[in-house]
Amino acid sequence: MRAIQIAALTGPRDALREVELPDPEATHFMTPGRGVVVEVHAAGVSFPELLQTRGEYQVKPDLPFVPGSEVGGVVVSAPNGAEVSEGDRVAAFCMLGGFAETAVAPEHFVFPLYDGLDFAQGAGLVLNYHTAYFSLVTRGRYAPGETVLVQGAAGGVGTAALQLAKGLGARTIGVVSSDEKERVAREAGADEVVRSDGAWKDEVKELSGGGVDIVIDPVGGDRFTDNLRALREGGRCVVVGFTGGSIPEVRVNRLLLNNIDAVGAGWGAYVFSKPDVVSAIGAEVGRLAAEGFVRPIVGARFPLSDAADALELLDSRGATGKVVLEVR
Ligand SMILES: NC(=O)c1ccc[n+]([C@@H]2O[C@H](COP(=O)([O-])OP(=O)(O)OC[C@H]3O[C@@H](n4cnc5c(N)ncnc54)[C@H](OP(=O)(O)O)[C@@H]3O)[C@@H](O)[C@H]2O)c1
Repeated sequence: MRAIQIAALTGPRDALREVELPDPEATHFMTPGRGVVVEVHAAGVSFPELLQTRGEYQVKPDLPFVPGSEVGGVVVSAPNGAEVSEGDRVAAFCMLGGFAETAVAPEHFVFPLYDGLDFAQGAGLVLNYHTAYFSLVTRGRYAPGETVLVQGAAGGVGTAALQLAKGLGARTIGVVSSDEKERVAREAGADEVVRSDGAWKDEVKELSGGGVDIVIDPVGGDRFTDNLRALREGGRCVVVGFTGGSIPEVRVNRLLLNNIDAVGAGWGAYVFSKPDVVSAIGAEVGRLAAEGFVRPIVGARFPLSDAADALELLDSRGATGKVVLEVR
């Protein structure tokens, strides 16, 4: 099979090489001896792959390795007892190995691809939506009718968080950096959009009548203190990622004075040992897809050979929605 490997830790342009490899066996490191083999039609490109080209992600396989955390494709084979079978269209989270013509995923991380979603959308369905659901509901303790502020609102996690929040009955506000990103955030369901280079914290407080209930923050950096200031009493700021570059520090007196929470949401660390939680979140994402709320926005498509271009788009802050490699 054709695949893209990370062969050095020198950043997206120079780290990648295209190779021919044998097809993988039907086994996954999370479920040794068992695995669903998927004919990959589209591979999702995400921030972890970008960080892996620099050795900056927490998952650091020996070089060379095939990156790619999730795919949309067709089941080639599935173990006895799996809920999918040969020929099914699926969205699958494989964690590694997705930038290839064939990939393997644990069976609890393989979900039927709902009618109306194409393979590229399937390649954007697990990492972002499960993370967004976990951040909003499991960790953020979302209650129906609350107001949710989403940073990086036109990005992969951001658009997923907006769609899920709308599906769960929230009022939503997105923070973005450009006109094009504002358009994408509105398409994803933002009721209001404010600009990251403006007085967004004050605008958010005004739009929300004094403060929001939840902030979903995949950006971090120097926005974090204003995230806390944008919360109402009892509000929760959920830490999801640090695309802004720096890891913010919190003066915890702010939490005390305003009776607010700063909450970490590490989806993988929480769910990898809990297949039941994965299935429960998958069922909720599936329900919201069936109701028409979950519709991954594919912002850019590249052929597999151009994986470096796809990663550079993320690196340059140019991506909207999900970036996808079309493998077939
Ligand atoms: N906690 C978890 O379990 C978990 C799971 C999945 C992903 N993540 C993390 O979540 C983060 C977001 O992932 P994503 O796939 O949504 O990324 P993405 O699609 O690239 O979106 C990230 C957004 O961050 C904003 N941003 C601000 N400063 C940036 C900069 N210097 N470079 C790039 N983007 C910048 C951009 O929005 P504006 O230009 O509008 O500001 C961009 O749209 C990543 O850090 C990822 O590792 C965490």
